[in-house]
Amino acid sequence: MDNMTFVLFGGTGDLAKRKIYPALYNLFLEGKMPKTFSIIGLGRGDMTEEQFHKGVENSIHTFSRHLSENDFKIKAFLNTIRYSQFDANTMDDYQRLLKLVKDRENELNIPENRLFYLSVSPVFFDTIALNIKQSGLGTTTGWKKLIIEKPFGHDLKSARELNSKLSNAFKEDEIYRIDHYLGKPMVRNIEALEFANPVLQALWNNKFIANVQITASETVGVEQRAGYYDQAGAIRDMFQNHMLQLLMMTAMHSPKQIGANEIREEKRKVLEALRPLNKDEVEQNVVRGQYGAGVVDNENVSGYKDEPGVAINSQTDTFIAARLWIDNPDWSGVPFYIRTGKKMREKSTRIVVEFKKSGDELYLNEDSNQLVIEINPNEAVTLHLNSKNPINGHMESMDVEYVSEQSDVPDGYELLIYDALLGDSTYFAHWNEVELAWNWVQPILDAFEENRIPLHEYEPGLNGPEAAHRLLEEDGFKWSLDK
Ligand code: BG6
Repeated sequence: MDNMTFVLFGGTGDLAKRKIYPALYNLFLEGKMPKTFSIIGLGRGDMTEEQFHKGVENSIHTFSRHLSENDFKIKAFLNTIRYSQFDANTMDDYQRLLKLVKDRENELNIPENRLFYLSVSPVFFDTIALNIKQSGLGTTTGWKKLIIEKPFGHDLKSARELNSKLSNAFKEDEIYRIDHYLGKPMVRNIEALEFANPVLQALWNNKFIANVQITASETVGVEQRAGYYDQAGAIRDMFQNHMLQLLMMTAMHSPKQIGANEIREEKRKVLEALRPLNKDEVEQNVVRGQYGAGVVDNENVSGYKDEPGVAINSQTDTFIAARLWIDNPDWSGVPFYIRTGKKMREKSTRIVVEFKKSGDELYLNEDSNQLVIEINPNEAVTLHLNSKNPINGHMESMDVEYVSEQSDVPDGYELLIYDALLGDSTYFAHWNEVELAWNWVQPILDAFEENRIPLHEYEPGLNGPEAAHRLLEEDGFKWSLDK
């Protein structure tokens, strides 16, 4: 791995504390950082290096997967870190940063390989990228990379504008767009499940599969993020990115080889084959909801509109369910149902692949076989098969289950940052995917904007609005595994 400099914009922010420093430290402990590297944290606050180091140390103590027995490891790690007070709109600050980066490169005798991580509000994305270019920070004799957090745009138009600005400063293969769902170990496992198992591979098509259900339900509400969330809603916050990524990972064809280009190409083809919805078709295929007030576990909970920071007449969706069709020879005729929502009954991210029934009349009580991939918080793969009870001869479900019990699984951020250091972009969103995803979602955004479809209020602590259940019932199915 190349020696390099890691520049973290938003170095005093929440994500940095919870995820990025712990991830870097764990990579460091496991010998997965370059031999020599320099980390530079940037933040708006005026603080000494010592104060900054203290903050990083606290975040490691609070959030790190493992801690070293001896102090000198953490000291050695902190030693690689410098802090610089920084205002993203001030050119002088970029010049100061450039000097600091160069000084450290000289001091450590490392090449001009620079990774810029934008863990900041999206309003700064384009300004920072532009100023990296104009200040000379991006002019290196080595490589440069940009890691960028979501949200990537607010709709199709703004995403295109942002991308065109970024591409003035960075080439596509230098940009690593984070979708943290692609860092989840079980999401990375989907591809192996499909392509390394001839049994499943043979069944992975419309001849055998009746429908696919992708759920990401959460028990939390909007929390402290109303300022962002009320403008975004579930459609932008989860659906356009995470949920469509899960869809692509599930429905893609086997790539010619396991490589970033090949896999991302197959994912792109899934989105290209997604049947577009026009505004008039949105109502038949998309359900939107917003949680109301209610009682969960004997406690009164506020409705979304009463959450601090939310507009009292807000029409923002906190729940989305949709039926999608992939018009290609493998998937035509198989509905994909996707849903995600806040304040639901349980935290569960899972994919259920429901197989067609055998059609034999021999076993009347046959249930459909299902493959369940649990992503979060449980990590498990279960195959539900029909079997005959040896005592009474009745049909019952026999479950073949794999539960990941490894306790020391790296956090998604650790996996993603490691990939970016290595230059492996397999699990980052390519611009093509992001653009196609916005393109598919745009008519839904328009229909919401024009209030063309009802906003169902749903009871907190349950499984979302009735209309989301009807979406499947219309096709003769039901959401699996709802508690
Ligand atoms: C984030 C969303 O991207 O994903 C949050 O902004 C959401 O609203 C979160 O809660 C869910 O992630 P996870 O990993 O807990 O499923």
